[in-house]
Amino acid sequence: MSEQQNVYPVRDDFAANAWADQEKYQAMYQQSVDDPEGFWADQAERINWIKKPTKIKHTSFDINNVDIRWFEDGTLNVSANCLDRHLEARGDQPAIIWEGDDPNDSETITYRQLHERTCKLANALKEMGVAKGDVVTLYMPMIPEAAVAMLACARIGAIHSVVFGGFSPDAVAQRVIGADSKLVITADESVRGGKHVPLKDNVDAALTRPGTEVCTKVLVVKRTGGDVEWKDGRDVWYQDAVNHQSTDCAAEEMGAEDPLFILYTSGSTGAPKGLKHTSGGYLTYAAMTHQYVFDYKEGEVYWCTADVGWVTGHSYIIYGPLANGGITLMFEGVPSYPTHGRMGEIVDKHKVSILYTAPTAVRALMAHGDNVMDSSTRESLRLLGSVGEPINPEAWEWFYRVIGNEKCPIVDTWWQTETGGIMIAPLPGATDLKPGSATMPFFGVVPALVDNEGNELKGATDGNLVIMDSWPGQARSIWNDHDRFVQTYFSTYKGMYFTGDGARRDEDGYYWITGRVDDVLNVSGHRMGTAEIESSLVAHEAVAEAAVVGFPHDIKGQGIYIYVTLNDNAEPTDELKKELIKWVRKDIGPIASPDIIQWAPGLPKTRSGKIMRRILRKIAANECDGLGDTSTLADPSVVDDLIEHRAIK
Ligand code: WT7
Repeated sequence: MSEQQNVYPVRDDFAANAWADQEKYQAMYQQSVDDPEGFWADQAERINWIKKPTKIKHTSFDINNVDIRWFEDGTLNVSANCLDRHLEARGDQPAIIWEGDDPNDSETITYRQLHERTCKLANALKEMGVAKGDVVTLYMPMIPEAAVAMLACARIGAIHSVVFGGFSPDAVAQRVIGADSKLVITADESVRGGKHVPLKDNVDAALTRPGTEVCTKVLVVKRTGGDVEWKDGRDVWYQDAVNHQSTDCAAEEMGAEDPLFILYTSGSTGAPKGLKHTSGGYLTYAAMTHQYVFDYKEGEVYWCTADVGWVTGHSYIIYGPLANGGITLMFEGVPSYPTHGRMGEIVDKHKVSILYTAPTAVRALMAHGDNVMDSSTRESLRLLGSVGEPINPEAWEWFYRVIGNEKCPIVDTWWQTETGGIMIAPLPGATDLKPGSATMPFFGVVPALVDNEGNELKGATDGNLVIMDSWPGQARSIWNDHDRFVQTYFSTYKGMYFTGDGARRDEDGYYWITGRVDDVLNVSGHRMGTAEIESSLVAHEAVAEAAVVGFPHDIKGQGIYIYVTLNDNAEPTDELKKELIKWVRKDIGPIASPDIIQWAPGLPKTRSGKIMRRILRKIAANECDGLGDTSTLADPSVVDDLIEHRAIK
């Protein structure tokens, strides 16, 4: 990214009305790092505790004793914090505005209605035998029932594990097994861009896999009325389960450190890991970041375009906005359906003030030219947000100019599934913006850059991004595998949380995230492990070996580039390429769809057999002049063949 760029100073009118201006940001940030105990004790006041915490911070990043606890002697219920406490002041205010895939489909749900629907489902879950501490898997469309299901779990102390509705039956099975989940909540079908996705069929397929016997109940929302198979005794229609239930359900008293949810995400090695998030600290952090980063004000319509299957949906469609008594818009469809103007039309239809979306969505619109937004005025917008991957300055400028009519600040928010909430981002009333930079740390966040040996680098520099101390939204562990948690995040650099990202800090102290430095891909803001895709490919009979790397892609940010070595009896045909692409899509899900497959008679390996991905990444990006030292390769000649047959020239 170029140094040469525009700066967008904070506008006076924005600073005057914002939750924080520059002075306040600096004072609060200073207090948050000088006195985290005092700072977070104050911030915990935003929660309705059943028992107020007296112990605030108990955290250690020491490799021999990684232990993260916040507000540990406090008790609360997250669902009551998102619903019950708002009933008096804003019971008849919308909590969720739901916009269907079909532009004629929408529904407004008030806090009172959301409370009732949540209580009914919570009672139904209890009747089905779900108890505190049980894990419930959600595999759902973007419909209000998804929010209701999360809140109903939280209400009775069950732990939800949401699986993105675009994932395959195998992914569902893996997560049911990993979390010992005895109930799955799903729908007959989801609808996206006019197409139906057979969620129930996928669950049926998932539950034939060995190890899934633990799951004995499937609750099915009727979304489309499409045909589904039915397994008596196991499958229950959602409507049948909730209809006769009471609209009251006492909220379970939970410890601040009791788990709220598990969310699986990809790492550089092995199967996806289930990050464990807990209750008190997570909610405090989600609510506070939602208020300050989006400068959220009472009564505003706020729209985060993510799916509830990702952490962005958890923290910034559901928990943050609802904890703040906000109005959160939930969209079932895709931004390009029925036309590319849809996003702007939804903004106009519901008078959206704050729009939080992903760079890939912005770039996809940008590719259609400025006129793509002509069907809307977007006059109601006051603030824009970006998340999921670095936003290139060109896309930033277009977002600002065309979508935001040159009057809305953009908050570029860097964070991760592991962090629970936003970590580095501007506060719109406090931080001058530089397109492409996530700018400055949020309260309580202490980022640093280190070299490969873990030495802290000062001043303007590139480095590996680490966080030096805990914050309340941090994941506490990996479900059933604390050792893996310690190894993955705390063993690379002693005493620090390693993000897996690289970053640059400029002369003004602004952070510019440069992307993953490990074997994790980010395709359209979706995180994927190269190892997962490779292990899918080598399970195909034609494949001897596969190496997956990312390459720069105009719309997706990163595309998936695969080098495949075939078994002797397999023919390198175009048909086989298509078959392998289908294979991966079926195995993992459409988001893992390979963009390019290159046949590789051999892969560049060190003498100890390790694939040198650095070289493969360069060839995929067509940067063949800078391959670096190849002399340590077991057979340097394989590189010439790969260069000759590279896909992008
Ligand atoms: C990875 C985390 C956290 C919400 C969605 C993704 C990349 C995320 C940004 C940003 C540059 C970003 C990082 C990070 N990332 N936001 N604003 N600028 N990179 O969550 O699936 O856990 O992925 O997404 O590489 O490590 P996730």
